[in-house]
Amino acid sequence: MEGIDRAEIKLTRGVPATEAFPIEEIIACSAQVLRDHGKTLLQYQPGIGFLPLREIIASQAGVTPEQVVLSNGSIQLVTFLAEVLLSPGEVAFVELPSYDRTITTLRRAGVKVVGIPLEEDGIDITFLEEAMKEHHPRLLYLIPDFQNPTGVTTSLAKREAIVSLAKEHNFMVVEDIPYRRLRYQGGDLPTLRDLDAERVIQLSSFSKLLSPGIRVGWMVAPVAIARRVTQIATDTYITPNMLGQGLAYEFLHEGKLENNIARLRRLYAPRLATMLHALSQYLPQASWIKSEGGFFVGLTLPEGANSTQVAEKARKKNLVLGNSAGFFADGDGSRFIRLPFCALNEKEIEEAIKRLAFAVQAVNQ
Ligand SMILES: Cc1ncc(COP(=O)(O)O)c(C=O)c1O
Repeated sequence: MEGIDRAEIKLTRGVPATEAFPIEEIIACSAQVLRDHGKTLLQYQPGIGFLPLREIIASQAGVTPEQVVLSNGSIQLVTFLAEVLLSPGEVAFVELPSYDRTITTLRRAGVKVVGIPLEEDGIDITFLEEAMKEHHPRLLYLIPDFQNPTGVTTSLAKREAIVSLAKEHNFMVVEDIPYRRLRYQGGDLPTLRDLDAERVIQLSSFSKLLSPGIRVGWMVAPVAIARRVTQIATDTYITPNMLGQGLAYEFLHEGKLENNIARLRRLYAPRLATMLHALSQYLPQASWIKSEGGFFVGLTLPEGANSTQVAEKARKKNLVLGNSAGFFADGDGSRFIRLPFCALNEKEIEEAIKRLAFAVQAVNQ
């Protein structure tokens, strides 16, 4: 405990715990897949990605393999989708707050990004309806399960309202679900794609389920969109990271992924529980999302406390907090702090929240 008291603690990045990586199994799967598929994996291949992996993902999603595009992480697919679905100057809606890299990626494509306020059960539907009158969005990007950065899960009623508005107003929905399988409590809701397979494009990734270093993400989309994304992928890099895709395939093919997900749940569930408990113990004056999975708890500071000032005070206590403004399409975020809990152990989490509470108090004085 003495060591932890002094050591720096980082509550900045949403990365997996390094002890979560199944390194020995990854070594074995890499060797096996190279033996079985080496001549394919080491060659230039179609930009859509490794067929055996696409076949497994397609059968799990109940679609054909031509609807599944693999890429170098799912964030690369956001770049391609921006080019396929939007022209510069057009509008995309995102949750307010949302994943910062999606916001910057869309902006780099010249897209106007508008935030729809996020409530405890998903975006504010009344606000969405009003905003649609003003902006006529081409696209709504959502993270409906254990959202980054807040931990919010969109309710079934809001999922239904969103797909029905998408149909009525003719815009596409991109649901990004890299955390969906990491549920530590409660039961799954249908995906938005389950509710409308024509209007919803689904993105997901092996980054949180296996490793971000292997860079394998995937998209499930209507065929026409999958083809256009594939064309841009091919123009961009000819062939995606086949070795990573081969490894992910072997992991799935050998039935190891489900075990790994079960192991991750056992590792991360107590970390979330510790964080939620520590917040109620040390920061009862703040409010936070009682997330049931994923990587994050979104904290709203009590009135009068500003996240930049809190971060400065926290730094003096050797607690490093991330920048909140990047998550907010309107650039605000002054009372928000994202708390990633997966890469810290329970002692570090408790100590981090104690230091955070100290920093909040120091700002309020
Ligand atoms: C919502 C969301 N989408 C995409 C990504 C990036 O995933 P990948 O590593 O597959 O590019 C992240 C990573 O933090 C994320 O939180």
